[in-house]
Order: sequence, then structure tokens, then C-alpha cells
Amino acid sequence: MEAWVQLSKHMFAFAETMSLRCAVQLGLPDKIYEHGPLTLAELATKLPIESVNMDRFEQTMRYLVHINLFTTTTNHHEETKYELTPMSRLLLSKIHNNKSLATFVMGATDPEELFVSGRLVESLGGSKSCWELQHGVTMSEKMKNDNKWSKVSDAMNGYTLNMIDAVVDGIKRESIIDQSVTTLVDVGGNTGIAAKAILNAFPHLKCTVMDLLDVVENVPKDPQLTLVAGDFLSSIPNGDVLLLKSILHGYDDDVSMTILNNCKKAMHPTRGRLIVVEMVLDMETMPEFSHARLGLAMQMMLIGGKERTKKGWERVIHMAGFTRYKIVPIAAAESIIVIYP
Ligand SMILES: C[S@@+](CC[C@H](N)C(=O)[O-])C[C@H]1O[C@@H](n2cnc3c(N)ncnc32)[C@H](O)[C@@H]1O
Repeated sequence: MEAWVQLSKHMFAFAETMSLRCAVQLGLPDKIYEHGPLTLAELATKLPIESVNMDRFEQTMRYLVHINLFTTTTNHHEETKYELTPMSRLLLSKIHNNKSLATFVMGATDPEELFVSGRLVESLGGSKSCWELQHGVTMSEKMKNDNKWSKVSDAMNGYTLNMIDAVVDGIKRESIIDQSVTTLVDVGGNTGIAAKAILNAFPHLKCTVMDLLDVVENVPKDPQLTLVAGDFLSSIPNGDVLLLKSILHGYDDDVSMTILNNCKKAMHPTRGRLIVVEMVLDMETMPEFSHARLGLAMQMMLIGGKERTKKGWERVIHMAGFTRYKIVPIAAAESIIVIYP
């Protein structure tokens, strides 16, 4: 019986994914946040649906309570009302929570992505990722052509905003940045969210954000940041500290080695340091993140990237000619990997 219970948890995992997506799509967390605890009938009137099928809606809400996205309380009139939980607060839209994970969840639960995962067996037998098998091109090629980048960028910004304080705390705790370094380059820094958070903690730094021309052209000007268009596969602007956050997990070891080599050329030969923020799959600290780490690793594998274990990181760091590095655990699924010249 226990085995059946475990099996059904995995077999019906789609119910979690799709009901979660439905909750975000309907903006349920916002409705409850804006109007206070609501009964099923009250909540139904707030939906962007003309005629709600109350039976299906009730079943969906029952499941969302089951996975703890919402909770219910019953008052003395025997009315059951839905309330937010800490998890649904993460899914409030940006107007109510500037660290909203709603866009990230919409990206991660996209039904198109589920079709991609249907190619897993095929991808195990060849060199192409599930994504390439499904779409015929790599993910970055498709993004460029379909102009989908702004959505991905929005999702990534939410994710980064959500965990960047943990990165800053780790940098402070281990004194990775001190007064001896004065310049920082956020390589593939998108709109500069990580760079800005680090700058707030270390105001003596001069920060540069480097990203592709299309991205840089659309980033609102910010007097605190210097924006530079470039390609990290070719060269990277010089800096004392380089930040590579959520970049290397998008590439295999050979391309990662090219990027790390370019960082090596760009970082100061003595006081330089490279701050890589990525997951270390077999990290013993913060084991509560294991499920997220392994799930994200599967997602990266499907789209053609690669999360790494400690050994995997050591291999690619050594391949790039670095010898000194340290893994710093932080209160997030990711860790900081500081690499010295
Ligand atoms: C997954 S996002 C990470 C963004 C940011 N570092 C963060 O963690 O929020 C990858 C970033 O790398 C940028 N990028 C991709 N290929 C690049 C290249 N060849 N040169 C420079 N930037 C690139 C993308 O435009 C995007 O902003």
C-alpha cells in the first residue's frame, strides 16, 4: 500500500503542476489578497470567466488546498472561506509583491514545456536535447526568432529578486567582496538586478552589466550601472570581481570552459575573484532544497543545459585552468562558487 501511495504521488504530479498554473492564470492569489478571505461563490465572481462551472472550480480549489496553496477557515455561519498561505503570497502579481514568482511559475509550467519532456527517451539515445528534438532548434535560437525573450527575462528577474538577498548575505558572511576590490562586472547580467543588490550592500563598487545587444538596448538607463553590450563567448570587460549568475547551467562543459576562460582573461590577476551562483546538486547543506535542485536540473537538461554536482563543478573549473575555488552554501537552492585567479 505504501508503495502504491508513493507511486500515485509521482503519477499524478501533473495535477500539482497544472492546478498551480491555473491558480496563477486566474490570478487567484491577487483576488484573495485584494478582497480578503472569500467563499467559493465570492471567488467565482472575481474570475475572468463568464460562466464558471462551480463543480469543476470546487474540485480545483480542493486540490489547491490539498497542496497548501490556499487554506480554508469556516466561520460561525458555516461559511468556508479561502485564504492565502505563504506559498500563494509568492504568487501575488508584481503590483502586490515586487519579488513575485508568478511569471517564473507560468514559464516553468508552460504546457509546451510538458510536450518537450515527452521526448526524454529519445534524447537519452542521442546528442540532441528534448528541446531541440521538439523544436528543431536550440532554445536560444528559438528565443531570438520568436521574440520570447522579454517573457523569459521577466520570469528570470522574479526568480533572481527572490533569492538575491541570500547571495548578498553569503558574499558578506565569507567576505568575498571587501575594500580591496573596486569594480564588478555582472556577466550576462540581464537588467542588472543582481548587480544592483550587490551594489546596495557594497556602495564603493563600480558596476558594469554586460549582456547581448538586444537585451542591453531595452534596459532602462540607470545612473548606478554601466551597461555594455557584448558576447561572453568572445570576450568579457575587465573587472576585479566578475559575477556569473545562472549562466553556466545553460551550457555543456566545453562552452562553459570557454566562458570561464574569458572570465580568467577579464579578472584581475591577483585581487580578482569570480562569483559563480549556481546549484551544486549534491550540496549537503540546506537539504530542504534537494527536490527543487533535482527538479530544476531535470528542467535544464530538457532544454539543453546542465546542473552540476561538486565533482562536475571541479571538472569544469579545472578544465578552465583555475585551481583555487570554494563552495559557499547560501539560503537558496543555489550556492556561491568563488573562484580565485
Ligand atoms: C538565465 S539569464 C541570467 C540573467 C542574470 N544573470 C540572472 O541571474 O538574473 C541568462 C542571461 O545571459 C544573457 N546571454 C545569453 N547569451 C549571452 C552571450 N553570448 N553573451 C552575453 N550575454 C548572454 C541573456 O541575455 C540573459 O540575460
